[in-house]
Amino acid sequence: MSHIIIQGGRRLEGALSVQGAKNSVLPILAAAILHPGRTELLGCPRLSDVEASIRILRYLGCRADWEGEALVVDASTLNRWDIPDNLMREMRSSVIFLGAILARLGWAELSHPGGCELGPRPIDLHLSALRQLGATLKEEGGFLRGSAQHMAGREITLSLPSVGATENAMLAACGAEGETLLINAAREPEIADLQAFLRSMGCKVRGAGSSTICIQGRQPTHDVRHTVMPDRIAAATYLAAAAAAGGEVELTQVDPRHLSTVTAALHAAGCQISAGEGRIVLRSTGRLRSAGTVRTAPYPGFPTDAQAILMAALLRAWGATVFVENIFENRYRHVDELCRMGADISVADRVAVVTGVPALYGAEVRCTDLRGGAALLVAGVAAEGQTRIGDIFHIQRGYEDPVRDLRALGAEIELAQ
Ligand code: UD1
Repeated sequence: MSHIIIQGGRRLEGALSVQGAKNSVLPILAAAILHPGRTELLGCPRLSDVEASIRILRYLGCRADWEGEALVVDASTLNRWDIPDNLMREMRSSVIFLGAILARLGWAELSHPGGCELGPRPIDLHLSALRQLGATLKEEGGFLRGSAQHMAGREITLSLPSVGATENAMLAACGAEGETLLINAAREPEIADLQAFLRSMGCKVRGAGSSTICIQGRQPTHDVRHTVMPDRIAAATYLAAAAAAGGEVELTQVDPRHLSTVTAALHAAGCQISAGEGRIVLRSTGRLRSAGTVRTAPYPGFPTDAQAILMAALLRAWGATVFVENIFENRYRHVDELCRMGADISVADRVAVVTGVPALYGAEVRCTDLRGGAALLVAGVAAEGQTRIGDIFHIQRGYEDPVRDLRALGAEIELAQ
């Protein structure tokens, strides 16, 4: 089993180009099957979740291969509508394939994605949206079986702006006759990227980024080449690392607008931040102060995916920072690991209070989930001594090469067996 070992306490300096967005490329890979032809994706990060999507695409009969820097999918040979349990278990977000398979083939059979490390993750909103489009869905024996021979567009209101349900409904609506209006849709930038991809493929979609998305289904599609948007959570991770360790870093291939709540919190904590077209520069003395109260919320609010990461940056800050996790029930599993490094954090239900400590100490810790693992990287670069991080497969789901990237910024970090 691999570990990441960090000798903390070094300032971070330098420039880094940020990887493409995991949460954007996964729905785009599902969307690729809507077109019985070729999709070329540039800026696609090489992550274990992307590899899991590639395995699903190949199982479905598509070709999916890296050609140099591009990931190329050919869905003209798609010949299956089922995804078996072992592939579904690798990645919960593969449920997005449901809407796409139904739209393309009119049948689908997926093993139920179930829960995950963040607490129960229901898919009731996904299923309700697909049913409203006319799909018949049965949940039996751990499987989801769907038929959708005659999906018809209509107005669908999501009871909360779920990212995954919005994406699933968008993909299914592309295969429905007529117009679908999605009301109370999620406004995350990754949804706008999915829309950009679908439009480049010939689908008629507008409104993404706002809470109403309009889709005209059954449009002729054509081959598509798309560049995946930058990963705002990976960017937040490297900004948080520099904030915690101190130093000056420049991130390129970022969209500062996507990071405004994260940079506002880091600014409130005492970092100097300047942003330009496609770049952000952060300067930190490493001696931060409380960021006040940070409440996670759907975009454009503070991202739940950056909660653990910002928390890790503020462990040595002067004063107390309060986190309120409003999106997921069980998203403080990283707290015990951070406390092993000397952090002072108390959790009650959805609220975590971080009281700054003078120093963090390297320790043997383990990733509890993807972003919880990223938080350990941030704490590790700011801690005195050696931190050894285990269960790093969680981190590898969402970060292309964090050892390479943090080393490029001057961290003393290595991958060890
Ligand atoms: C996506 C992101 C994830 C991020 C999350 C919130 C991907 C691959 N993952 O996850 O990184 O943390 O958005 O920004 O893009 N819910 C229901 N019923 C449903 C669906 C969701 O009750 O049918 C609830 C969830 O339990 C959760 C909330 O809605 O409390 C938000 O979940 P959602 O936006 O769907 O997150 P994901 O799409 O799973």
